[in-house]
This record gives sequence, C-alpha cells and structure tokens, in this order.
Amino acid sequence: MNFRLAKWIMDHRVSVGILFIIVTMGFMVGIPHVQIRTIFKDLLPHDDPFVQVYYDHPNFGNPLLISVMVKRKVGDIYNHETLNKVWQMTRDLDLAPHVNHDTLISISTEKLRYAEATKDGVDLQALMDNHAPKSPEELAEFRSRVQRSPNARSFYISPDETATLITVAFLDSVDYGESFKYVHDLVEKAQDADHIVYVAGQPILTLYSDDRFEMSFLVPAPTFQTLRLGQQIEVKVADLPDLSLKGEIAGYGVMEKGSGWGAEYPPELRNGEWEYRVFTAQKTPNTQMKLNACFECHKAQASHDFIHAYEKLQEASPLRSIPLWQNRHRRPS
Ligand code: HEC
Repeated sequence: MNFRLAKWIMDHRVSVGILFIIVTMGFMVGIPHVQIRTIFKDLLPHDDPFVQVYYDHPNFGNPLLISVMVKRKVGDIYNHETLNKVWQMTRDLDLAPHVNHDTLISISTEKLRYAEATKDGVDLQALMDNHAPKSPEELAEFRSRVQRSPNARSFYISPDETATLITVAFLDSVDYGESFKYVHDLVEKAQDADHIVYVAGQPILTLYSDDRFEMSFLVPAPTFQTLRLGQQIEVKVADLPDLSLKGEIAGYGVMEKGSGWGAEYPPELRNGEWEYRVFTAQKTPNTQMKLNACFECHKAQASHDFIHAYEKLQEASPLRSIPLWQNRHRRPS
C-alpha cells in the first residue's frame, strides 16, 4: 500500500508538487494576520492555586491593576486644585490604551457613593458631581459626603487626608510599552510644586524592570570627605529630592590597580590590571564577599579603564554633591 502510494506520487510528481505549492500559498495568505505578542495571562503559572482562583473569578481582583496616588504636599486634598487634578487624571486614565473602563475607581467616579437616609429609604449618590468642587460651599459639601462614604474614606483617601487613590486595571490585550508610556506621561504632567504623584502595581514594575534604570544617591561632598565607619548619615535619592534615607557606613569597597595584576582571571572576567576587595568596619578583608560581581559589573566600563564614574570623578569639585553609590538593574535575559 505504502509503495503504491509512493509510486502514485512519483508518477504524478508535477501535479502533486503544484498541489503542495497551492496549499502552502493558501496558508501564506494568513501570514500578515499572525500576531506575535505576549499575553499576560499565559505567563501566569497555571498550577498555582492563587492563579486558579483568579481564573475562576476573573472579575474579583486583577493582576493588571495599577494604583495612582495623588498626594498634596502641604495641607489636605479638600481644595479645588487637587480635586480637579484627580478629576482630570481619572478621565485621562479612562482614555489610556487597553484600559478596562469598568475597573476605574476614584473619588471622582460614580463607583464611589455616599449614603443618605431619606423618608423613603436610603439614597445612594455619587461622591463627586460632574465637576470637581470649587466654591467653599461645594468643598464643604464634598468633605461631608466623604464622611458618609466609608468606602471612600477607608480605601481611597489616606487617614491624614493628604492623599487619594485612583485605581484601574488593564485588559489582557495590554501593550506594556504603549499603555505605560501613556500612564507615565500623565504622571509626569500631573506632578507640580504642590503635588506628588506615585504609581504602583505589578504592570508598572514589569515596565520599569524591562528598562535599565539607575538610582543615584547623593551625599554632600563635605560629609563624604569626613565619613567615618559607623557614622549615621543622611543620603538623598537623586531623582526624588523629597526623600532622604538614613544609613550607616558598614564597610569599604575598594579597587586597586598594579602592574601585572589580574593575569590569573579568565578573559571574560578580567578587568585589566584591577583587583577588587571589600573591607569590614574593622578594616579587615571581608572574605564572605563574592567579588565576581564587582568584575562583571565594572567590565561594562572597559572603555573607561573599568571606572564607572570616570567623568564624574574628574569633574567633581569638593563643594558639589557627588554620587555615593549607584546601582544599575537589568532584568536577566
Ligand atoms: C551592579 C553593578 C556594580 C557592582 C556589582 C559593583 N559596582 Fe562598583 N560601581 C558601580 C557603579 C555604577 C559605580 C559608579 C558610581 C558613581 O557614579 O559614582 C561604581 C563605582 C565603584 C567605585 C568607584 C570608582 C568607579 O568605578 O566609579 C569603586 C571603588 C567600586 N565601585 C568598587 C566596587 C567593588 C569592590 C565591588 C564588588 C564588591 C563593586 N564595585 C561592585 C557598579 C557596580
């Protein structure tokens, strides 16, 4: 039978060949419609009980939820400028690409309501009318409505009344780059002298870890030059002037170059003639420290003699703030 089929094919090889070409071309017609993209749901571990609950109840909770917090730096949120910002941002977020409109909640959407007892029963009304409250009377009315809305008060306004949340989820069709550039631009635009806007959520984390980003910590040069171990210092994060971190010098990281050094390292690790070492607070070598990471990360600066802050070190004057430490994160590929 197999032989007969093979013989038949060989006898009609031209027609069979043409048939195959036609079938192939038929399939090729579909090529322009083939979409290659990441569907977020497919990346979740299917055997995880949490994920299974999510599949069973897709309307309850959402992994693609983002939270935007609008915070007034001085005073509370009950002023036209802040409330109007929230009102406008909520509408702008509604226009974000691939946003799930049903999930948008803020103090300016009708999802948040306040209850009023009337003689006929309980009346539920939207917290905010179709504009942000402006006059002192409107603002006072809004404040009293919030008092009658436990949902808004507990989940969407901070206890000190200086910050409020806008939450929204994205659809599975989300295009991370497109949607989050939109959100990111909105956030940038909304920040001003009186307001800080934070955005959080798993999708934002994915977006940021997708891109290499840098965090620089600034310490004033005079402090830097007199640093002693164990000393408490205050460090500023370069991009966030309002945030300062307190820390303590826990050890020293040193790199030193000597002629003929480094020959024992394999070429993919070797940093020319540089050696790295970390010392403890007692100035003894810290032997726990794995030094391969030093080599790997500084290797990227081969064109600048393996020194990351090559240019900065040359221009740093004693009075300028100079970066104390900088970290570059990259998602492992
Ligand atoms: C994640 C990457 C990374 C790793 C790992 C790393 N460094 Fe660095 N290192 C940097 C960066 C970035 C700078 C520049 C900071 C700045 O701009 O002031 C730097 C700066 C330095 C400097 C100042 C000279 C220079 O290159 O600007 C020394 C000394 C140094 N690192 C030692 C070490 C030692 C020792 C280790 C291992 C324990 C180490 N580094 C591990 C990224 C790294």
